[in-house]
Amino acid sequence: MLDLKAYLFTLPAVAQPNKPHDLSPPFGWRALVSVWKALYFTPGPYRPDAAKTDQWNRGAYLVRALGHCGECHTPRDALGGKKQDMELAGTDSGPEGGIIPNITPDGETGIGRWSDTDILNVLESGLLPHADYVGGQMGEVVDEVTSKLTDADRRAIIVYLKTLKPIRHQVRRKKTAPSAY
Ligand code: HEC
Repeated sequence: MLDLKAYLFTLPAVAQPNKPHDLSPPFGWRALVSVWKALYFTPGPYRPDAAKTDQWNRGAYLVRALGHCGECHTPRDALGGKKQDMELAGTDSGPEGGIIPNITPDGETGIGRWSDTDILNVLESGLLPHADYVGGQMGEVVDEVTSKLTDADRRAIIVYLKTLKPIRHQVRRKKTAPSAY
């Protein structure tokens, strides 16, 4: 981040008034961000859980921090905060209105019946168990993030996902033809 700032500050200064925010009230009221942060944001580094293995902690760190998996896979409340008790349980109203599957280990509505290899395939290449490929936003995640991880990191993610609380939560399924991804 500091390198980004250093670069931006080397650019020539341009004297042009900023555009006004086009968010409708109250979303444009900056002071409210501190309220939102008090509700949903805990600053500080990831704190490993000493009761868990290193592999689990690595997975938790990748899923919760670096991978931002919950930004899409966790449903949100009316204020736009992630519902803590629904971690990774999927949502019908993901970013850009997308349908985001439940990836908790629930056998009916989540990925509880998937083998480690099934999950590994998705993270590595986007291949789903029924021989389709993930598309859209997850396609980008696979392309830009999970396909570039080491195998050990992908396996740590799987270990972590498998220990999540199984949450029964059915999201609508897309019934589209295989994506072009
Ligand atoms: C930008 C939003 C976004 C992010 C971030 C994201 N996903 Fe996804 N994920 C999706 C969408 C959308 C799908 C459904 C894709 C499809 O079926 O075409 C999906 C599908 C999946 C599936 C397949 C589940 C199923 O039932 O088909 C798994 C497993 C998965 N994601 C794991 C992860 C993990 C692990 C991370 C973090 C490293 C992650 N996702 C981050 C949007 C996201």
